[in-house]
Amino acid sequence: SFEVELARSGQVVVVGKDQSVVQALAAIGVEVPTSCEQGVCGTCLTRVLAGTPDHRDLYQTPQEQACNDQFMPCCSRSRSARLVLDL
Ligand code: FES
Repeated sequence: SFEVELARSGQVVVVGKDQSVVQALAAIGVEVPTSCEQGVCGTCLTRVLAGTPDHRDLYQTPQEQACNDQFMPCCSRSRSARLVLDL
């Protein structure tokens, strides 16, 4: 598991291994717009302010993924203990 911090509210949520970031955020009442939930449509694209995502999407180019400044919370996870999101 890993933690996600919401930069605007300071809320921190733990993302368990059997749930997505979108699901973990929904559980605390934070809705991220989604459509495909498979990493292909781009709807859930979210800015990353700190931490290193574990990109599992097919939407971004490898170059975009390497920037680590945005990720797809419907399917991607984290390589660092915490991700700070622009939410
Ligand atoms: Fe489609 Fe996340 S909902 S990429």
